[in-house]
Amino acid sequence: MNTLGNRREVFGFRKDMYKSVSPLFGVVRRSELEMLQEYWSHMSQQSMILEVGCGTGFLSQFLIQKGFVVDGIDFEFSKPKGVRKYWQEDLRERWPADIKFKAYDLVISLASMHHIALNGSQKPPTAFISGALKSLRPNGSLVICDVARPQSATLACSNPAIRTAKFFQEVVDTYTVPPHCGEYLDRNRTQNALIQLGFKCVCHKYVHCPWLFKSHDEMCAFIKILFNLTDITDKYLNKILNSYIGISNHVDGCIELNWGLQVFSAIVQDHI
Ligand SMILES: C[S@@+](CC[C@H](N)C(=O)[O-])C[C@H]1O[C@@H](n2cnc3c(N)ncnc32)[C@H](O)[C@@H]1O
Repeated sequence: MNTLGNRREVFGFRKDMYKSVSPLFGVVRRSELEMLQEYWSHMSQQSMILEVGCGTGFLSQFLIQKGFVVDGIDFEFSKPKGVRKYWQEDLRERWPADIKFKAYDLVISLASMHHIALNGSQKPPTAFISGALKSLRPNGSLVICDVARPQSATLACSNPAIRTAKFFQEVVDTYTVPPHCGEYLDRNRTQNALIQLGFKCVCHKYVHCPWLFKSHDEMCAFIKILFNLTDITDKYLNKILNSYIGISNHVDGCIELNWGLQVFSAIVQDHI
């Protein structure tokens, strides 16, 4: 039986570790929020947003501060502060039955889908796509921002999203305790699934969203705790981060880790 306990082992996610570094997200991950602004900049205050895999509420709380009404779904965490309605649901299995039809202007997921996608599928689960489609208003949009899939070495040299993907594949999936085993979304499979299940205007892009740290020590501690990399020394981690992702000095004196993600966006036009 697929109980919560069993799922935790498969999940490879240390809730306590994640929670302990989440107070730093507002500084470290602020460029992720800046990069995503284009997806809600046209929306008026009081627009309705559903965040899928909202975790400790990093994105939800930012959206609430902007004046949006935010609901959330997550499997592991409890309802983040300020979120209006919340469902604790395993989205690999089902979309919550009592979510209103055509209620949201935006359904958004940040850094969650590589946990939610089913093993071997490289695309979001059907229940998730169909549920999001049903829950969106006409012209509403679905935005999935997540770790990319590692591709060719040539692309890896130039693209921060692909370098971050390789870091996940070769470091996070290898050293995280319990094992991480992310299922990273494939561009074509995901776009096809979105179109087949009824979304229109499906787009994809790679984005650069550097993580910012006050020092190398802070960067190492953050990455080690976030991914629970217990078996890696700071020296080795620094070397890996330099070679996979690239570290530079930001103008404000911060250390910039050249993080990158992929974004899928899809619009519902005429509704089913
Ligand atoms: C890496 S965290 C990202 C959290 C948050 N969006 C952020 O950016 O900080 C992944 C989140 O996905 C949630 N999650 C993982 N598997 C899930 C599933 N099957 N159904 C629903 N939520 C899930 C986890 O509980 C966790 O909060």
